[in-house]
Amino acid sequence: MEIINSIHSTRDLVKKWKKEGQSIGFVPTMGYLHDGHISLIERSVKENDKTIVSIFVNPTQFSPTEDFNSYPRDFDADRKLCEKAGADLIFVPTSEEMYPAQSATFIDMDKVSKELCGKSRPTHFKGVLTVVNMLFNITLPDRAYFGQKDAQQLAVIKRMAADLCLGVEIIGCPIVRESDGLAKSSRNVYLSPEERKAALVLNKALSEGLKLIQAGERDAKALLKFLHNIVKSEPLAKIDYIEIVNSETIEKADVLQGSILVAMAVFFGSTRLIDNFIYHVEAGQIL
Ligand code: PAJ
Repeated sequence: MEIINSIHSTRDLVKKWKKEGQSIGFVPTMGYLHDGHISLIERSVKENDKTIVSIFVNPTQFSPTEDFNSYPRDFDADRKLCEKAGADLIFVPTSEEMYPAQSATFIDMDKVSKELCGKSRPTHFKGVLTVVNMLFNITLPDRAYFGQKDAQQLAVIKRMAADLCLGVEIIGCPIVRESDGLAKSSRNVYLSPEERKAALVLNKALSEGLKLIQAGERDAKALLKFLHNIVKSEPLAKIDYIEIVNSETIEKADVLQGSILVAMAVFFGSTRLIDNFIYHVEAGQIL
């Protein structure tokens, strides 16, 4: 497995692979890898000749009040996990390599990026879309793998790939959870033992909500009230948002129909966790 910091050397190696006719799978990450990330890498290894993992804590997707400086980092552990999962290359640039000068060009998006996390983190998706586009230009992948854990991120990246004719197939992968149901996240390490226990309310609310839809509830307002009540019953939980939207357009749903994304962001202390499920109402299927 290669480890490369430089954009030029990465692109040279990728071009060589392409010339040899090898397909390229790409998994962008911010490191501190867990089983969620590994599931994406393993899927890419299965479906492509070569798999590239990027590890870059991208400063432009954090607002000044967010946790860029304290975001957990452990390259040594990440390197071992990537190797074990079968990755061929880790691209691990510095901020100076990615942003040598003050950038003047950004990718922003109407609508899809403005609801949910876009409301509480107004500059976040501009940073994500721009860096993902840069990373695609560096790694030239045939397929790129993203987790449904960040369902809105997956939707905005799918939309960018379609709108800008990127020619990269965007593949969404299921949420990997701890054995007690908490969605795996690099940020879970911030939780105190009490907060860690309290955070189980996310999965509990979503599971109960899903049961309610499966029992025939079709009114979004009623489902939202139900979800709010469950999360509020946990004193350590502070709701940022709970929303029900169309899973592709991220437009608010009044009636539960088609493919819906039920998503929430909740603070436990200063740690903001997100969780969701996507359900096709008429097909009666979790996606
Ligand atoms: P990061 O938070 O490191 O996540 C990298 C990828 O892992 C994302 O596609 C995310 O959805 C996926 N992932 C995280 N937790 C998961 C879980 N429990 N189950 C399945 N997949 C999971 O998302 C980012 O980094 C950044 O925004 C990035 C796309 C790299 C751009 O900087």
